[in-house]
Amino acid sequence: MDELGAVVVTGASAGVGRAAAIAFAKKGYKVALIARGKAGLDAAVEEIESSGGVAFGVVCDVSNTDQLQQSADYIEEKLGPIQIWVNNAMVSVFSPFKEMDLKDFHHVTEVNYLGFVNGTMIALKKMLARNKGVIVQVGSALAYRGIPLQSAYCGSKHAIQGFSESLRCELLHEGANVYVTMVQMPALNTPQFDWVKSKLSHSAQPVPPIYQPEIAAKAIVWAGEHPNRHELQVGATTVATILGNKIMPGILDRYLAKTGFKSQQTHHNVESIQPNNLWHPLDNDKDYGTHGRFDNRSHSKSLQLWASLHRKSLVFAIASAMAIGVSQFGLSKVD
Ligand SMILES: NC(=O)c1ccc[n+]([C@@H]2O[C@H](COP(=O)([O-])OP(=O)(O)OC[C@H]3O[C@@H](n4cnc5c(N)ncnc54)[C@H](OP(=O)(O)O)[C@@H]3O)[C@@H](O)[C@H]2O)c1
Repeated sequence: MDELGAVVVTGASAGVGRAAAIAFAKKGYKVALIARGKAGLDAAVEEIESSGGVAFGVVCDVSNTDQLQQSADYIEEKLGPIQIWVNNAMVSVFSPFKEMDLKDFHHVTEVNYLGFVNGTMIALKKMLARNKGVIVQVGSALAYRGIPLQSAYCGSKHAIQGFSESLRCELLHEGANVYVTMVQMPALNTPQFDWVKSKLSHSAQPVPPIYQPEIAAKAIVWAGEHPNRHELQVGATTVATILGNKIMPGILDRYLAKTGFKSQQTHHNVESIQPNNLWHPLDNDKDYGTHGRFDNRSHSKSLQLWASLHRKSLVFAIASAMAIGVSQFGLSKVD
């Protein structure tokens, strides 16, 4: 069996990226973790190494193309060819669009959308040169459905979705053995809601139902190893949101206008804008970890994800059961 290669995860000092880096390392991949904050990166690397994994952290801002290129070159020097590249890093601003500072909006786009574009271009060139590799884009149900108070974030996730589709067609056209796939996530219990820039009157929260980041990590690892799947949707709410938006986008507009402000905020009042990681990392001195503060409200399992990962065997089992049923019905008629 081939030795497992190197994996790069951007935004790996906390939340989903950190959970994904840990999950890849547990499977035996050598993992490079990219983020801006040193304390988070060091703690994540230590967590992996203490379980016997191979990992190292690179302090880098994904919106800086030169920095990211140098990081990728350095990673290949240390770990060898990059087999899987996971674009995951994100920032956001919770605010009505009319109250947003345009500079903030541009910056979210630079990190979330152009950061993914940078990572994809850098990984793609390396992978095409050896005709081997997988790029995983970490997406969201919000890549298809915009919600209030997160216009910059939703715009960037939609853009990643469109850009990745274009690239996927080009790679298929060339018959390349390099793949781009996207994983659309539900609400997740990550530190995002403790350090996101928010202009809301109450503290921000993921819209329930909330899942633990390990569910997201499982899906990311699976997508990296099964890149032929166009995209992987995680959680029943993600599937329902994407499908619902296809069928009745106008009704969803009205529903979200009514519920979307309240569902993204807890009952806790916020006096002023909290320290946030929009322009600078907050985890230079403090490790924020993988989980957010919603452990007691978060699901550790997703039946929908299990069914999606096993859909071939499920279809086979259902078809077999139906065939047996039909043949028994036929026999009982003959009797
Ligand atoms: N949490 C959810 O409810 C949810 C739902 C759907 C999809 N997702 C997706 O999951 C992914 C991760 O989200 P999360 O909730 O885990 O976020 P998070 O907890 O806020 O973590 C974001 C990570 O990105 C890093 N980062 C931020 N700006 C960066 C930059 N310019 N360059 C490099 N790294 C940077 C952060 O570290 P530094 O600040 O130290 O750089 C951190 O490691 C995102 O793509 C998001 O769209 C999340």
